[in-house]
Order: sequence, then C-alpha cells, then structure tokens
Amino acid sequence: MEITTFERLTGSERCLVEEAEKVREHAYNPYSRFYVGAALLAQTKEIITGANVENASYGLSICAERAALLRANAMRIRKLEKVAISTRGETFDVKEPTMPCGACRQWIYEFAQLSEKDLEIISASTNRSKILRATISELLLSAFGPKDLGIDITKYQR
Ligand code: THU
Repeated sequence: MEITTFERLTGSERCLVEEAEKVREHAYNPYSRFYVGAALLAQTKEIITGANVENASYGLSICAERAALLRANAMRIRKLEKVAISTRGETFDVKEPTMPCGACRQWIYEFAQLSEKDLEIISASTNRSKILRATISELLLSAFGPKDLGIDITKYQR
C-alpha cells in the first residue's frame, strides 16, 4: 500500500478519480448517507462507473465497486486495469481514503483473474488531499479463487 498525492497520479489515473467523484454523487444512500463512487479502467481504456445503492433491507445494499463491476460485465467487459474510489459523508469530508469492503475485494479479485495483470486500486479522500494505492493481491492475501475449484476461466475473458 502506498500513500501518494493527486498530483503524482498519471493523467489517466486523475481522470479515473474524477469519474469516481462524479458518479459518487449518484449514490442512492437514504440509510447511511455515505457516498461512494467507483470508476473502472478497462484494458480497452473504457471507463465504467458505479455508485452505492442501498435498500430498506440494509444487508441487501450494493457497494459502488460491485455496481461498477456489474455494469462492466453487462457491457461485455471483464478485463480491467484499475479501480478508482472516492467517498464522502453527507456532512463531512472523508480524510482517510477508504479501501473496498471484504465482499468487494473478493469480487475485484475474481475480475483480476480475468484480467492480464494484478488490479490496481486507487482511493482518494474527499478533497483529494490523500490518495492510497494498492493492488488487489495486497488487499486480499491468499485469496480464494477459480483455481481452488480447478476451474479455468480463460474462456470467460472479454
Ligand atoms: N460502501 C461502498 O459502496 N463501498 C465500500 O467499499 C464500502 C461501503 C457503501 C455501502 C453502503 O451503501 C455505504 O457505503 C455505507 O456502508
């Protein structure tokens, strides 16, 4: 895990963070009032975004990261390079960039197996003053995946 700044990101990484910030504002979050946006950079260089969508049955809420992955799949895109995340509270700025929850790490790991390389995660504090960078294999050590089931997923790569 690396702590960095917005200025030190590459141009395309900055764009990805900007897209995460934009989509963050589409969060459907009546229960937590927490806004999360995720932007995926596909190997095709397309950007696919998602925001968190909550439900009155709280546990059924979908995180921004998984919302974005579902959209990518519906667009026939499964090979990814990076994920940018931006969060804010209703009445406060998030100072410490948030990393994906456990369920989302497992989902990102699945897509990393379909991609050419380890997936990079870049998370920004609300005002971009702090950026964290990590790879999914760093965030999910000894992950359970398709190989454990003896399944070759190469034919599912898109
Ligand atoms: N949330 C995300 O969208 N991504 C995460 O990685 C952590 C949590 C959402 C779920 C819920 O809508 C709100 O943030 C508060 O947990």
